[in-house]
Amino acid sequence: MYNYALDKQIEEHAAIAGIAHNEKSRRFFSRFAANGAHIKDLFNTLYASQPAASEQFAALLQCICTAYAQRPPVLKTKDHQKEKQGHWYLSQNIAGMSLYVDRFCGGILPLCQKLDYFEKLGVNLLHLMPLFESPPGESDGGYAVSNFRKVDERLGTLSHLQVLQQQMQKKDMYLMVDIVLNHTSNHHEWAQKARNGDAEYQDFFYLYPNRQLPDAFETTMPEVFPEAAPGNFTHIPELDQWVMTVFHDYQWDLNYTNPRVLVAMLDNIFFYANLGVDVLRIDAPAFIWKALGTTCQNLPEAHTLLRLIRLCVEVACPGMALLGEAIVDAPNIMRYFGTDNYTAAECHLAYNATHMALQWDMLATGDTRVMLAAQSILLQKPLGCTWINYTRCHDDIGLGYNDDMIAGAGYDPWEHRRFIKNYYTGNYPDSPARGALFGVNEQNSDARISGTLASLCGLETALQASNVAATETAIQKILLMQAHSFFLGGIPMLFSGDELGYTNDYTYLSDPAKSYDNRWMHRPAMDWDKNKRINIKATAEQKIFEGTQRLLAIRRQLPAVADLKNLIWLPPHNISVAGYLRAAEGQQLYCLFNFSQKPAWLSWYIFKAHGNVPTRLFDHWRQLTLQIGDDRENFEIEPYGFMILEAQAS
Ligand code: GLC
Repeated sequence: MYNYALDKQIEEHAAIAGIAHNEKSRRFFSRFAANGAHIKDLFNTLYASQPAASEQFAALLQCICTAYAQRPPVLKTKDHQKEKQGHWYLSQNIAGMSLYVDRFCGGILPLCQKLDYFEKLGVNLLHLMPLFESPPGESDGGYAVSNFRKVDERLGTLSHLQVLQQQMQKKDMYLMVDIVLNHTSNHHEWAQKARNGDAEYQDFFYLYPNRQLPDAFETTMPEVFPEAAPGNFTHIPELDQWVMTVFHDYQWDLNYTNPRVLVAMLDNIFFYANLGVDVLRIDAPAFIWKALGTTCQNLPEAHTLLRLIRLCVEVACPGMALLGEAIVDAPNIMRYFGTDNYTAAECHLAYNATHMALQWDMLATGDTRVMLAAQSILLQKPLGCTWINYTRCHDDIGLGYNDDMIAGAGYDPWEHRRFIKNYYTGNYPDSPARGALFGVNEQNSDARISGTLASLCGLETALQASNVAATETAIQKILLMQAHSFFLGGIPMLFSGDELGYTNDYTYLSDPAKSYDNRWMHRPAMDWDKNKRINIKATAEQKIFEGTQRLLAIRRQLPAVADLKNLIWLPPHNISVAGYLRAAEGQQLYCLFNFSQKPAWLSWYIFKAHGNVPTRLFDHWRQLTLQIGDDRENFEIEPYGFMILEAQAS
């Protein structure tokens, strides 16, 4: 419904920001006209009853207009190109890597010299782990931000970041950074002002004069880091008050029931957008709204906030996609793509965390049934949204799939999880994996898993034993895990080091700021001498790098890999083989993955389930043609092997 008063208000704020009505700003005004009433509605849902509501709504509109006015023309042009392309992030041409700039090459300027490395590998999206200032020492790997606008001087400066962004843009690469929305460091100016008694900034956090409300909250709030940071509140001696700290005691949760917090953080979001960020990783969105008597996770208001942010971003900087880092159970992850009227209108991207964990499940058991049980949920992802697919990232692997999925495959959920934990920590007979338990909760025996891709696949054990056959198996497993996630549809996201098989790094144990957090074992610092081994034939590094590079090249060539909601799981006929069909634009790709340590036999029935009867299939991985039919019914996939088969005219 047309709202004259709102329209007029938008005009006024645009005029204050100096935005003239002309051909260039036409699309901005169209976007605002389309989204304005929804922005107001969502804002009112959260804040209408607050005394500061109308003043803060005006501040929000001003923030959007100023962001657009300050957006560099080159980014506005890029916005328009992306708008025309439509859902640019669904393309099979995008592949990413997450990296800590300091651990990768020391700083932002040196990273400019490494762009060729990514090009060689086939990576064109860089997720730079937190770049903005965080205190030295305990900073949760930069996720305790003390200044959202200042690049951490250990990494470089804001102008270095701009240089990097421009160089990446010239190479058609995409930039992804984090906005840590849920909390600030206790060293952030807002936290310091609050600690010094400034009431305005005390309202930016959840501060309580005694334990009464904290105790009440804690009856229903789970702990995120039960070992390293038990409890959800921290005592502030200067104030003799308690502040909510869901993650570590030095990460103060921001209070989004205060609209000023939203506007201030939206302004930071626009600051990143105007630096040329293509994908904004919204850290821990599941936690951004708290309410007594709940788990304080995945609350409806958290979704309202994300939708509001999405609509504001669409108006001012539509080229920036939002990635919700919601590492929660599958039904809840799906909700971050939006529901009801907001289906496909919340986060553009989400981590495929359930599937990631299920890949590890399949690798340990050689049984694909638990993974398949989750697919009815994961396939509900709306068209126009996509996954970040990954095998490892900087965080732990949470076994966040539901018990009914495990029970459905005939396992006892408690025993099954115990097996997985034992398997990946090398405590199961014959397990070659070398990982560690993370976040062990003594009360419910919950635990997650740390370790690099290579170590969890057995490479560390094999290399230490100088066991050639076991090394080959580990390499095969690494490539199997990557291949399975690369072709699913969505953006594959490698973690730096995994492209050449870095094993666990145990040096974190001697650094007191890290030793309590074993996630550092899978965040290795690059050793560029080791990296040179990618050029030495038949080394593990060369085989893994070359395999990863080739897989990325194959996916770029195949339009059916773009995420057009065109994934069909194939009836397995063999519980060790995960198979999916990707079909689009006349192309049919049958991707088959054997998660067993034994060869798997399949019959051509696997191809026939969807009305197709291909008899000639080209395997892009092995560069071989598979002939199949009445007279050749069966074929074999080697242990931990896989096939990327494209149906060909007979
Ligand atoms: C996200 C990050 C994780 C961090 C947490 C708190 O989950 O990925 O590394 O510890 O948020 O910011």
